[in-house]
Parts: sequence; structure tokens; C-alpha cells
Amino acid sequence: MQASTLTLEVRVSNMVAQNLYLKYGFQPVGTRKRYYTDNNEDALIMFTDPIQSLGYQTLLKELRQQLFHRLRDQVHQAGITAHVSSC
Ligand SMILES: CC(C)(COP(=O)(O)OP(=O)(O)OC[C@H]1O[C@@H](n2cnc3c(N)ncnc32)[C@H](O)[C@@H]1OP(=O)(O)O)[C@@H](O)C(=O)NCCC(=O)NCCS
Repeated sequence: MQASTLTLEVRVSNMVAQNLYLKYGFQPVGTRKRYYTDNNEDALIMFTDPIQSLGYQTLLKELRQQLFHRLRDQVHQAGITAHVSSC
């Protein structure tokens, strides 16, 4: 889709999601005050570096491999017969 960067908002209290996004190369760049209307919680704004860069593509490839191995191990442990493709 020719996108150059990715951005998202996440609740400032949601450390699990923030850790996931940090792992995938998102960095905090600011906040949107009272973004969530249910409890007036602030949103943390996160951005990636250019996703077409060699660095980001390398990170993504490594994470995809890690995820593939983890899913394959889980399938084996569960004794499930499934076809998991590493793309
Ligand atoms: C965010 C969410 C998708 C993560 O899913 P998950 O199944 O926990 O993800 P994984 O187990 O693959 O973990 C991925 C990463 O998330 C982070 N993470 C997961 N559980 C965590 C925990 N208890 N504490 C801190 N970080 C955690 C880690 O960075 C982890 O990577 P690591 O295993 O290499 O350390 C899941 O918690 C979820 O669905 N949350 C509710 C919805 C939500 O918060 N969505 C985001 C809205 S912005």
C-alpha cells in the first residue's frame, strides 16, 4: 500500500499493548489528552521509523520468524494437526 510509517494510539495504562508495540518498533512521540471518552484516559501516540527501511524490514523478518516458531511449538505441544506457513 506504499505506506511509509505506521502510527497508533494506545491507553497510557495499557502496558501490555505498549510493550507489544515497542517490540514491533513503535516509539512514543506524544499524548492525546482525554482521548478515550469512557474514562477520559489519555492516549499515548506511537510511530514507527520508515517501514520500508532495511532496519525495520530486518526487525519485522526476525519477529515473523520468532512468531512462526512459537506458533509451531504451540501446535506441536497441543498435538494439533495444522499447517502453519512461515510466509
Ligand atoms: C495486546 C494483546 C493483543 C497482546 O496479546 P498477547 O497474546 O499477550 O501477545 P503475546 O503473548 O504474543 O505477547 C506479545 C508482546 O506483548 C507484550 N506482553 C504480553 N504480555 C505482557 C504482560 N503481561 N506484561 C507486559 N508485556 C506483555 C510483550 O512485549 C510481548 O512480547 P514478548 O513475549 O516478546 O515479551 C492482548 O493483551 C490483548 O488482546 N489485549 C486486549 C486488547 C488490547 O489491549 N488491544 C490494544 C488496544 S490499543
